[in-house]
Amino acid sequence: MRGVEYHNDLSRIRVEDLVGFFRGWPDPPAPAVHRKLLGASSHFFVAVAPGTSRVVGFVAALSDGVLSSYISHLEVLPEFRGRGIGSELVRRMLGILSDLYMVDLVCDPDVQPFYERLGLRRLSAMVRRNYDASTGRQANDPRADP
Ligand SMILES: CC(C)(COP(=O)(O)OP(=O)(O)OC[C@H]1O[C@@H](n2cnc3c(N)ncnc32)[C@H](O)[C@@H]1OP(=O)(O)O)[C@@H](O)C(=O)NCCC(=O)NCCS
Repeated sequence: MRGVEYHNDLSRIRVEDLVGFFRGWPDPPAPAVHRKLLGASSHFFVAVAPGTSRVVGFVAALSDGVLSSYISHLEVLPEFRGRGIGSELVRRMLGILSDLYMVDLVCDPDVQPFYERLGLRRLSAMVRRNYDASTGRQANDPRADP
């Protein structure tokens, strides 16, 4: 999408710019927790709507900086989907992680073709979800308080 700005500068992201994400989550994290999540991640990028400070997409990753990384979140607000923003966020993240052996993520089957087009391949995964922790409010990581 023309005019969308991509950056990874947390100081330019206000809590009120992070509204509307985690769509479909029964108990989603609040925008302030979302901002903490970005600051605590090893890497992130946001996409900002033209002429505004409104964040319309984001990607976050966790990495040990040696061998392994995990793309923990990718989301584009519904009204901005289908315009290449998600692909651009993933491309930028894969660029940052390009020296590492492993770049892993977990996604629903219907999103697998999206990632395949970006060069990822299918593999099985095992996960655990603590649904009573989905708001992130209990998080106690000092790095999450920039
Ligand atoms: C997945 C997601 C980030 C893609 O963002 P986007 O900005 O719409 O992506 P793009 O515009 O770059 O899409 C590129 C292509 O992937 C396709 N695509 C995107 N999401 C898809 C999905 N869920 N199922 C099937 N195809 C999908 C698009 O149709 C498009 O194909 P086209 O170029 O042939 O039209 C977005 O749909 C989203 O936020 N979904 C909800 C959250 C989610 O599923 N995140 C991934 C969790 S790992």
